[in-house]
Amino acid sequence: MSPADPFFDEVPDHRGRNSLKWGKYEGRDILPLWVADMDYRAAPEVIEIAKELARFGHFGYGKPSPALTELILERMDRLHDWRIQPNWLVWLPGMVCGFNIAIRAMGKEGDEVLSNIPVYPPFLTAPGNFGQNLIGIPMTLEGDRHTIDFGALASATSPQSKTFLFCHPHNPVGTQFTRTELERFAEFCLRHDLSVCSDEIHCDLLLDEGATHVPLAAISPEIADKTITLMAPSKTFNLPGFGCSFAIISNPELRRRYKKACAGIVPDPPAMGFALAEAAYRHGEPWRQRLLHYLRANRDLALSRLAGIPGLSPFPVSATYLLWIDARGLAVENPQQFFEEAGVGLSDGADFGSPGFLRLNLGCTRALLEQALDRMEQAVGAR
Ligand SMILES: Cc1ncc(COP(=O)(O)O)c(C=O)c1O
Repeated sequence: MSPADPFFDEVPDHRGRNSLKWGKYEGRDILPLWVADMDYRAAPEVIEIAKELARFGHFGYGKPSPALTELILERMDRLHDWRIQPNWLVWLPGMVCGFNIAIRAMGKEGDEVLSNIPVYPPFLTAPGNFGQNLIGIPMTLEGDRHTIDFGALASATSPQSKTFLFCHPHNPVGTQFTRTELERFAEFCLRHDLSVCSDEIHCDLLLDEGATHVPLAAISPEIADKTITLMAPSKTFNLPGFGCSFAIISNPELRRRYKKACAGIVPDPPAMGFALAEAAYRHGEPWRQRLLHYLRANRDLALSRLAGIPGLSPFPVSATYLLWIDARGLAVENPQQFFEEAGVGLSDGADFGSPGFLRLNLGCTRALLEQALDRMEQAVGAR
């Protein structure tokens, strides 16, 4: 286990601050390890820019600087070996809104939207927002790693299937898809004329040493032509409250449809969102490297402790700071409630399409994580 890091060990006191994550259990002794928000302070350079803007004292409409676009282009090239053009970018105030718009742009009422299950809950409801039907493809296990079940995908795909809503890397199971899997997936989508919305919000949170993220659209020009990629600095740099996300769409006709679906209902990101995104991409790399180091150690600690708790089977986490646990072995009616009563607030797998499972957020201090693991161990031991 790597030594602790004083920066990530020392977090602000979130109580009484209208935090979604902490507010849920305000006034109760329940450790919040649920919604995907990390407890850490943002990078010091990002905080400085926020202070500078506050001192400036004017909060009017903003626009992305050419430098932000340049940073994104350079980042795609350097980190993901993907060359994109400035006019492929469409700015968005958030990812959930981004994939809802994609479903609207890619299909029509009555069409089917495919998605791997379990998945981030808003994926489950997005198709229904536009009269489209979600078809869940249960993921399969290769050893203890979740991946796409190509057999189930082939059986579930019908002439009504028009869109695949893809989570890459995958929340909540922590899978980083390999190039080989992506090639096979791309080939399947092209064969069945499926458009893909690829939510890659977690792409800069790879926990395996030396791993690199391959965007689906970087696999081939053919799949790029069918793909809307969504990305954001929000998860990576812990800025989710300052919505600044973007779609990358190389196909001009698809981009036109996407912008039309946005028209009049999707605002631009706030000026502060643009500014903090730029600061994070420009200055945040040392912070991100330290974060990954810290999260790896949290993951390793949680995996080894959870594996020792009878009835719990944790899955490996290659990406994201979210750890997926099979709690069916506990044989309790509602594992989320069971641990909540023991003072640990986890996400309920039922919300992701998998009752009996739990999701644990590793984005907290080592001390809080240890305390939560102690409580979980004691609760199971005391049954
Ligand atoms: C896969 C995925 N997409 C989107 C989001 C949320 O994005 P936003 O807050 O920008 O709507 C999350 C948050 O956890 C997520 O895990």
